[in-house]
Amino acid sequence: MKLIINPVKSLVGTLRPPSDKSLTHRAYMFASFATTESIVRNPLRGEDCENTLRAMIHLGLRHEMLGPEEFRLIPTQEWMQPNAPIDCGNSGTTMRLLAGLVASRPLNVTFVGDASLSKRPMGRVATPLRLMGAEIEGDRAPLTIHGKELQGIDYVSPVASAQVKSCTLLAGLRAKGTTSVSEPSLSRDHTERMLKAMGFRLDSEGLKVSVEGGQEGHGFEFNVPGDISSAAFFIVATAILQNSRLEVDELSVNPTRTGILDVLTQCQIPFFVTDVREELGEPVASLVVHTANLLQPFTIEGELVPRLIDEIPVLAVLATQCEGTSIIRNANELRVKESDRIELVANGLRQMGAQVETFEDGMAITGPAKLSATKIDAHGDHRIAMAFAIAGLIAEGTTEITGADSIATSFPGFESELARLCVA
Ligand code: S3P
Repeated sequence: MKLIINPVKSLVGTLRPPSDKSLTHRAYMFASFATTESIVRNPLRGEDCENTLRAMIHLGLRHEMLGPEEFRLIPTQEWMQPNAPIDCGNSGTTMRLLAGLVASRPLNVTFVGDASLSKRPMGRVATPLRLMGAEIEGDRAPLTIHGKELQGIDYVSPVASAQVKSCTLLAGLRAKGTTSVSEPSLSRDHTERMLKAMGFRLDSEGLKVSVEGGQEGHGFEFNVPGDISSAAFFIVATAILQNSRLEVDELSVNPTRTGILDVLTQCQIPFFVTDVREELGEPVASLVVHTANLLQPFTIEGELVPRLIDEIPVLAVLATQCEGTSIIRNANELRVKESDRIELVANGLRQMGAQVETFEDGMAITGPAKLSATKIDAHGDHRIAMAFAIAGLIAEGTTEITGADSIATSFPGFESELARLCVA
């Protein structure tokens, strides 16, 4: 599918972003090992999460539709042996977290994925699982796991990755003894918060989190809040278009995910957060953002990186409009996402007229640049497609983005929401 974007004057209105992808994956997975049934409202119906739901159904989860966006999820005591490989599609979270859940069960499961997922590193989850005693064939998909009785480990993860942390902790729930994971800086902590809300005991000490094997946790009721990683595209559009104002409602504002707000502060983009409440241990709020007068450049490095890792493509678009050089460092993880996001972002922005220098672990972008429209190949990466759609809103001419069907993995309805909120 090709996405055609023409320049617009401003963006005004209220957005309820699509529900959080990380939280929806976890809701389906965690409901599958709860002792009682769960109710999940407003799950993200994007392709990544639908792959997780299908996978859990193959493994024995039963589900009933209670309403158009409301599921009753009923766990089985013994997970079922699937009779075919589990297709994780484009979703790293599905493959990595499920690996941890399957490794302790008497099952033989093969996970497969699309061309992008088949290139991404799975050794990062296979390593701790092997240390715990699991038998795993492959360090990339297809990945075959022969479940075993696992032993707790004290694992020091070389990357700040919630997928590695979650996989190891989920395996640890059924391992003998204690399983601990330490990470170089704090990655999103949804797994820890949701497991605690289900009654599991986890102990956190600095950057180390531990869980005792053999615990049980109950089901839950969960209204999945909006995804800040999806809202980010509209937040950046608001900041760079004239006379714009956006209200984002029912937004997940977990502090391990709100790095973009730190960037807004650095850029002097006016925003405020209201109506903070909690949903299954996760903070939820409304956010109001306005056009900035003069955009200051920003720096993303160190512990800020995992707090906005998925937002970097669109923050790079923001950087092209800042008065000076914005720096992104320590973001090597971008090279192993759905695409090499450093390369694709830098090449596309240069094609549009921006000044971009790349490093192995990031970029330096000097603005402000007058962007001109071009043809972008998103290489099947949803966040690349959406980031360039936002760049297209301020570019002169018509921007064409191919490979934009990938947007359905995380943001069904992106194009119509953009059309609804933008003023031509
Ligand atoms: C995710 C964690 C992040 C993120 C991904 C979703 C999760 O990956 O990029 O989109 O739900 O745990 P890493 O933990 O590998 O950085």
